Amino acid sequence: MAMDPRLHGYLTRALCHEMAAVQQYMAQSKLCDLWGMAEYCSHFRQDVIEELGHVESLMEALIKLGVTPNATQLPAVRLGRSMEEMFAIDRVLEVEAVRLYEEAAAYCWRVRDDGHHALFSKILRDELQHLDELDKLSASLLTKEKRCA
Ligand SMILES: [Fe+2]
Ligand SMILES: [Fe+2]
Repeated sequence: MAMDPRLHGYLTRALCHEMAAVQQYMAQSKLCDLWGMAEYCSHFRQDVIEELGHVESLMEALIKLGVTPNATQLPAVRLGRSMEEMFAIDRVLEVEAVRLYEEAAAYCWRVRDDGHHALFSKILRDELQHLDELDKLSASLLTKEKRCA
């Protein structure tokens, strides 16, 4: 059966997003480490592990379709100059992921591709969770800043 080009497009865009997220969060975890902020360093390290899990699932799906996984278009890493700026930058990345997986899952639902619908929906749930965690971290940062003021 011929490969569905739209499905191929979604899987490849998703792979690029996940590789970019791994690179971004790994770099931010290192920066937090250098700033002596162990709490945030471990948050980013955990994110790297979860985004790597997404990379693995997407690579598996591509290989099963007979396609070599290849993330060739990675957006530039943006570190941020403060925790507040980091969380704002990462929020944009996670919102983009949510939009991508919503669109990909809706497409697979329309063409009755249950397997890939399940894959995109599972990753979508994780990305919504990441967004929620980011919002909680940003809120706790604001509370800490108020206490210090
Ligand atoms: Fe992800
Ligand atoms: Fe994420």
